Amino acid sequence: MSNVRTNTAEQPAYPRVGEVLLSAEAIASRVDALGAELTTAYAGLRPVLVSVLKGSYIFAADLSRVLRAEHDIEFIRARSYAGSESSGSVLITGLEEVSLQDRHVIIVEDIIDTGLTLKMLTKQMRGLGAKSVKTCSFLCKITDRRLDDTPPVDYFAFEIPDKFIVGYGLDLDQRYRHLPYVAELNPEKPT
Ligand code: IMP
Ligand code: MG
Repeated sequence: MSNVRTNTAEQPAYPRVGEVLLSAEAIASRVDALGAELTTAYAGLRPVLVSVLKGSYIFAADLSRVLRAEHDIEFIRARSYAGSESSGSVLITGLEEVSLQDRHVIIVEDIIDTGLTLKMLTKQMRGLGAKSVKTCSFLCKITDRRLDDTPPVDYFAFEIPDKFIVGYGLDLDQRYRHLPYVAELNPEKPT
């Protein structure tokens, strides 16, 4: 990662960004494997990836390029968080412009935390006539805050511990999405 600004002891590029949990290399290799798995599962089915913005924009772009079966891609928006705490409600927009009739749908998410976003999404997608709906999330948080009735997460790249993390699309109040790695947040340092 020589051309990437990471934190060093002498010169922390981003003071709030702490330990790197997943390097860019580890992410690329795992996303490749996930792409191969989906390529086999969806061969000949022309699935539609429904990327949930903003968080999944990098994952969706990377996954799309390693999914070697013809597919379409659509974008919708879900908003739930303020700071590093869940707001407890989810606003979903853009689904009304997407046609899922008779399609094999893969919901592409950044992270499953409480499961509320996935639950609301699945609920809103019901009745739109999809042939199948599966979920592919970049991350799955290991947490006891997961809602009991969270729909199954069919595919995911990594499980991560119950910490607030940033990078590879994930933000803290819109910051740090651009980091090509995943890092935990440094709680004690100023922004
Ligand atoms: P859920 O509805 O609680 O499952 O949360 C899902 C959404 O919250 C994700 O799509 C993210 O946008 C956001 N989120 C959850 N955990 C984190 C985190 O650790 N870092 C950044 N965003 C997060
Ligand atoms: Mg977010």
